[in-house]
Amino acid sequence: ADQTYDYDVLVIGAGPGGYVAAIRAAQLGLKTACVESRETLGGTCLNVGCIPSKALLHASELLDEAQNGHMATWGITANATLDLGVMMAEKVKAVGELTGGIEFLFKKNKVTWIKGRAAFQDAHTVKVGDDTITAKDIVIATGSSVTPLPGVEVDNAAGQIVDSTGALELSEVPEHLVVIGGGVIGLELGSVWRRLGAKVTVVEFLDMLLPGMDTDVRKEAGKIFKKQGMDIRLKSKVTGATVNGKKVSLTVEPAAGGDAETIEASHVLVSIGRRPNVDGLNLEAIGLELNKRGQIDTEHDFRTKVDGVWAIGDVIPGPMLAHKAEDEGIAVAENIAGQTGIVNHAVIPGVVYTMPEFADVGMTEEEAKEAGHQVKVGKFPMMANSRAKANRDTDGFVKVIADAETDRVLGVHIVASLAGTMIAEAALAMEFGATSEDIAYTCHAHPTHAEALKEAAMAVQGKPIHM
Ligand code: FAD
Ligand code: NAI
Repeated sequence: ADQTYDYDVLVIGAGPGGYVAAIRAAQLGLKTACVESRETLGGTCLNVGCIPSKALLHASELLDEAQNGHMATWGITANATLDLGVMMAEKVKAVGELTGGIEFLFKKNKVTWIKGRAAFQDAHTVKVGDDTITAKDIVIATGSSVTPLPGVEVDNAAGQIVDSTGALELSEVPEHLVVIGGGVIGLELGSVWRRLGAKVTVVEFLDMLLPGMDTDVRKEAGKIFKKQGMDIRLKSKVTGATVNGKKVSLTVEPAAGGDAETIEASHVLVSIGRRPNVDGLNLEAIGLELNKRGQIDTEHDFRTKVDGVWAIGDVIPGPMLAHKAEDEGIAVAENIAGQTGIVNHAVIPGVVYTMPEFADVGMTEEEAKEAGHQVKVGKFPMMANSRAKANRDTDGFVKVIADAETDRVLGVHIVASLAGTMIAEAALAMEFGATSEDIAYTCHAHPTHAEALKEAAMAVQGKPIHM
């Protein structure tokens, strides 16, 4: 270690970006510490994000299968009832095991956890409470938090107007949950509470759900969530909320302006996006400026404009996803250690964990065309996939977009019960620069949902077998 500093590497934030960066830095022989202000490690993802939301999605899906006919299709009847307290306790257990697991990994790899909030004094020095800590390299991995909506004040403790954190720990099933924002959080947590018995209304500003995804996927999402009983109000915005005892009155206006209407809700979820966490870091002290979106810009190796200061995860541009943050965590540590750490930002899968799941990697058809590609598209419906048919879960399709000239795969979009698992194969193929023909001629086990990807790739060539 360089004796001039307390540590070789100091990471600020112990989310998927920060904890992974710290562990990899330590693995590479660097003396490493990680500052985290939460009581537990793991950041947004483990504490109030990916993990508790997936626990509740899984649990609520079990109830839905029992109550809403899927099991009955198979001649299985169950008198399923809900004990919300038990469900929440099991979720807390899952979270605790995973955050505890990171603490164990820190000990195992000799990463020092410094508890508290870090603020820069200079490019090699931070203050945490009364302590001053120095490091040769500092990684900012402070993540993001909920974007507030003016006029709709979130109060998670009161439990009526909540953000995602509050929606993961409601003490009762809402009678009527209004979700503001038809993006990933709104649809995942809206699905949880719908399955548990709430009436759910989704108010979305744009003309389709799931912005950023392929138009075919977004159209399918609209149909599927409507079929599942969600009331979806597109091209609408909420401009105010008033709490009257147990009710919340929401003022909803057409996005383009016009007459307002009032919707009465028992609970409201604000999920209109997230924004980078930079408050209190004292970036002024090191002269680090933010971009127009409030993010920290970096070079491709995650170096900021300030020597010795690096940044990764939700606080920098790119999709706000845990696996993107993790890969950047590994890369930044390797770069600090003098190796070459790279993240291919063109191949980062995204998954919405509803039923069915919505997953994508690479470019949408619109993006591919905008980028100047002539495209060939192959689509295969899950309805024609034998395993989906056998399982009676035939919602969705696989769409493969390839360059018309080179046949190289540019993007894959999947709606299917197992889309989140299936997309990994597409990501691997794209990472290896595969053509659609490569996928079409790869032997896939039968009967699996994954065969639908092979058939969609065959469809790019105009020759699927089962359609
Ligand atoms: P974070 O996980 O936000 O961690 C940053 C940490 O830094 C925090 O713990 C914070 O307390 C700490 N910190 C901030 N400032 C300071 C400071 N000054 N000093 C000390 N500590 C500080 N992504 C997926 O890929 N899959 C999912 O299924 C998924 N589900 C999600 C569900 C929900 C409800 C939410 C809200 C998010 C979900 N995400 C999901 C997104 C994912 O959680 C984030 O992309 C990921 O956590 C970003 O990692 P990060 O390390 O950049 O930041
Ligand atoms: P989002 O960006 O996915 O969706 C926000 C939605 O709100 C958009 O559709 C937007 O058009 C709409 N909107 C914005 N302002 C509005 C207004 N005033 N009225 C009505 N609608 C409005 O953001 P979300 O769902 O809050 O999630 C934040 C981030 O967290 C995501 O971008 C994602 O990166 C991450 N996340 C990832 C998950 C996953 O990977 N499965 C799960 C949950 C979150």
